[in-house]
Amino acid sequence: MRSPRARFVFAARLTSARRGLSWSHAVKFKGLAREKPEKRIAGVTRRSRLVAGNWKMHGSRATNGELLDALLAGLPGKTGVEVALCPPYPYLQQVSERLAGTPIAWGAQNLSEHDQGAYTGEVSAAMLKELGCRYVIVGHSERRQLYGESDAQVAAKFAAAQAAGLTPIACVGETLEQREAGKTEEVVARQLRAILNKADFGAGVLAYEPVWAIGTGRNATPEQAQAVHALLRRQLSPGVRILYGGSVKAQNAAAIFAMPDVDGGLIGGASLAAKEFIEIVRSAQ
Ligand code: 13P
Repeated sequence: MRSPRARFVFAARLTSARRGLSWSHAVKFKGLAREKPEKRIAGVTRRSRLVAGNWKMHGSRATNGELLDALLAGLPGKTGVEVALCPPYPYLQQVSERLAGTPIAWGAQNLSEHDQGAYTGEVSAAMLKELGCRYVIVGHSERRQLYGESDAQVAAKFAAAQAAGLTPIACVGETLEQREAGKTEEVVARQLRAILNKADFGAGVLAYEPVWAIGTGRNATPEQAQAVHALLRRQLSPGVRILYGGSVKAQNAAAIFAMPDVDGGLIGGASLAAKEFIEIVRSAQ
């Protein structure tokens, strides 16, 4: 059963298709899109780049303050690269206060698929919106593996984020076992399909994060990343940004970002070190 928003989006899409309008035009016309992540120049879609830091369960008020100061001092001004930070929930207020009025956006690492109610320990999309979040990560492999989040739940979270006006960053990725069994394509396609069956991808962001590359120091080669990004791209409209995540460091970022279907990165460990993260952002320019 589609949510009221999904039904609306579906109807709007149908109407726009009938009228011969582009989908992005229709969404904009309806006032749903807050930003346009792509530009069309001479018929070629140019996607703006995004580098997002996923702090995971790290930080303290003191270390966050130092990191934010260092990032604000060191990140290049007009880069054409959008930067976002996703701290743990308790620090969203601190981060929002420090980043308000700067070009750096912020977001959360997870949200509830429910609007409100008796869901102890959960945080809703509307709450994140109130904290000024632009982004929210959904379906990170650590959520899927450690907390048993299913494809359907991830899709529901994606839809809940969109309905509240947040931009979901949806993660897909295969385990080492699945890669070695030749199942990479099947796994990421299934994970993405679950989302597309529930919601229009709209201005959402996709992140390809091979599980075997997360926190292991073993990144996918640029060619491995490109191959998966290209097949994911085929399922999405050309303006959707697809980020790579998994052991991105200053030293390997440029080669990964040079791939035509890689539109930036979702950075874990290296986003906690200002110098590393700044170098990664520079590599995306
Ligand atoms: P690492 O960059 O630490 O490998 O983590 C990647 C990740 O999980 C980002 O969401």
